[in-house]
Amino acid sequence: MSPQNYAVRPALVKDAAGIHDLLTKYSDQELLLPRTINEILPQIPQFLVIEDQNKIIACVSLEIFSVELGEVRSLAVDPDYTKQQFGAKLLHAVESYARALGVSKMMALTYVEDFFHKYGYETVEMTSLPEKVWRVCVKCPRFHHCDEIPVLKILQEPVGFSCFE
Ligand SMILES: CC(C)(COP(=O)(O)OP(=O)(O)OC[C@H]1O[C@@H](n2cnc3c(N)ncnc32)[C@H](O)[C@@H]1OP(=O)(O)O)[C@@H](O)C(=O)NCCC(=O)NCCS
Repeated sequence: MSPQNYAVRPALVKDAAGIHDLLTKYSDQELLLPRTINEILPQIPQFLVIEDQNKIIACVSLEIFSVELGEVRSLAVDPDYTKQQFGAKLLHAVESYARALGVSKMMALTYVEDFFHKYGYETVEMTSLPEKVWRVCVKCPRFHHCDEIPVLKILQEPVGFSCFE
């Protein structure tokens, strides 16, 4: 089946373990921040996923910081499924979701800066994202030696309501 045939869908509570398994593959390599199942579960409404044969193969979550700013969080594609446009598909989907909610700017903290540049994000100074820094980053153990790269994109107005695609 080609990647176009895989649907992006809102996560269900039963997906929490699969999302956790997927994120752990990358948090173990320190490419993503770790998230426990207990942290993921109440945030399930923020997650979009792609599933293959009852396995969560890709996920992303949307965090909202202010009436303007949202964050692409926990974007991950299972290593067996990378390089097939699933990451791009989920990034577009989470941007559509954010736009539909009225979010006008999306940020990410990332080690894959070039991936985000490809989709219209620009690298910015961390100081230009005070909502994130003072609400979240200050509590992070890596605050004083954070090496993630902040990227930001201004979202277009929604053209019409299209939920996740
Ligand atoms: C980064 C990640 C989400 C990319 O997912 P993916 O499904 O392999 O990416 P796609 O196949 O959708 O790639 C789309 C395009 O981006 C490019 N791309 C993918 N990963 C890239 C990277 N690390 N750096 C630069 N470009 C990249 C691809 O070459 C492709 O370009 P093309 O359309 O010209 O061929 C995935 O590798 C991953 O889960 N990485 C670990 C977790 C992580 O770092 N997530 C980001 C957190 S903010």
